[in-house]
Amino acid sequence: MKEAKDTFSRLFCQSLNRAQKVSMKISCQNGGNLIHFLLKNYISRAIMRPLQKFFIRTYGCQMNELDTEIMVGQLEKRGLTRTAEETDADLLIFNTCSIRDLAERKVMGKLGQLGRVKAKRSIIGVTGCMAMAKKDSLFRKLPHVDFVLGTNNITDLNKVLDEVLVSGKQTFKTDDVFEENLDYLIAKRDDPVKAYVSIIRGCDKYCTYCVVPYTRGQEVSRPPEGIEEECRLLVQKGYKEVTLLGQNVNSYGKDKPEWNCLFHDLLYRLDKIEGLERIRFMTSHPVDITVDLMQAIRDLPSLCEFVHFPIQAGSNRILKKMHRIYTKEQYLEKVALLREIVPNVSLGTDIIVGFPTETEEEFEETYEVFKQIKYSVAFIFSYSARKGTPAFRWKDDIPEEVKQERLHRLLSLHAEIGNEERQGMLGSEVEVLVEKQLDNCKLKGRTRCWKNVVFEGTEHLVGTLQKVKVLGYGNQTIVAELIPSIPKLSLI
Ligand code: SAH
Ligand code: SF4
Ligand code: F3S
Repeated sequence: MKEAKDTFSRLFCQSLNRAQKVSMKISCQNGGNLIHFLLKNYISRAIMRPLQKFFIRTYGCQMNELDTEIMVGQLEKRGLTRTAEETDADLLIFNTCSIRDLAERKVMGKLGQLGRVKAKRSIIGVTGCMAMAKKDSLFRKLPHVDFVLGTNNITDLNKVLDEVLVSGKQTFKTDDVFEENLDYLIAKRDDPVKAYVSIIRGCDKYCTYCVVPYTRGQEVSRPPEGIEEECRLLVQKGYKEVTLLGQNVNSYGKDKPEWNCLFHDLLYRLDKIEGLERIRFMTSHPVDITVDLMQAIRDLPSLCEFVHFPIQAGSNRILKKMHRIYTKEQYLEKVALLREIVPNVSLGTDIIVGFPTETEEEFEETYEVFKQIKYSVAFIFSYSARKGTPAFRWKDDIPEEVKQERLHRLLSLHAEIGNEERQGMLGSEVEVLVEKQLDNCKLKGRTRCWKNVVFEGTEHLVGTLQKVKVLGYGNQTIVAELIPSIPKLSLI
């Protein structure tokens, strides 16, 4: 009997991975014995639920989308397959966002609902910004959640999963400092033409309304060599466009002066990559945009002439209260300089309406700036008080109806400006990177200035740059026709 027990223990131990062995060792050192450990902690769970399929849903911004792609890569490397059906999965991950109350309520509703479905018990994990904001307090509200993994611990996903499998206990890892050894190259991307590439994580700006500095930590730039290597590999795989991501890309390199590589230096480096047709970036904090960057947009062929340049508000009193550290006049000066250096540049913005104490006149200042700048792209939000931010202490005093009314006024102005802009493009010829074939068999692509274009064409054009002529426009799209390219004649 003893011999059989020993053989079983040996074989079983061989099948454990490192994390499981460590956990087992600790358990045995703490007075348990091996068989007891196996029965209590592992065998029952391993038999009950070998992990095969996972489901992952992303909320929030592009940074979260990229983090999801990295987690997907890690899980696939572990041998799991992704499924689009929640009910099919034995691991469910929700990569969450905290930016506004609605974003949190959506995911809390979803997670609450999962707790009420008792039929199939999958492992449930919460990652992303809400995981960071709520940490292990999430377990109190959601006792059926198995693990919580913060934005700085993506590298630890498999480790945390092992811990959950071995111990069966709720586990969380939410470090304040980013683990710089994150393997970006493992990311499993859905889009075959354009890819997100992280260049700087976190934010040091501390706008008074915003949770990001608390959920993503301090700014940490990624070494230029790693970024370049990733971009080169993407090009080898057939990617044509990268979007460099950061809460404030213009801060790139400032935390690492020894690299001697600021944001514009990085752009000059990446522009040299043969086959990388387009480079985009977001987001740019108005305070940190430099003349060097403006000149890079003018001079580098791959750098697209679109800058997402959020003003947030048009009133100096509100900007100060938001801690945006620029005035309307300084912002307008930067826009004027940018337009002088890059005359065909398109601008995007984010705006918050109904910030505490915002008066009607102050909102109208925002409206007027919007009208003056004629933003091509705008994300307009109504203020949402976020726990832990300085603005949370102030009374959220603008009634919801007033916020909604201001929001809709800006949205209509935005639609008006968009239509005017598209009208002005009628008959012109633009370059489009073809991104995909739509359900109606038409092709969809984007111009360098980030405008959506739809036109007739065959699937083999996906991933190529094409010239199209603008024929008309809809609400958010431009309708065009393909200008057939003339094949180059060989003289030999
Ligand atoms: N780093 C970027 C934006 C990150 S968050 C920048 O500074 O431009 C995206 C947008 O969400 C912000 O630009 C802001 O417009 C909006 N936002 C952030 N916190 C918000 C809040 N508490 N209520 C409403 N909108 C908010
Ligand atoms: Fe938030 Fe401001 Fe940082 Fe943007 S710059 S992420 S709005 S704190
Ligand atoms: Fe949301 Fe976090 Fe992005 S709060 S907007 S997912 S950085």
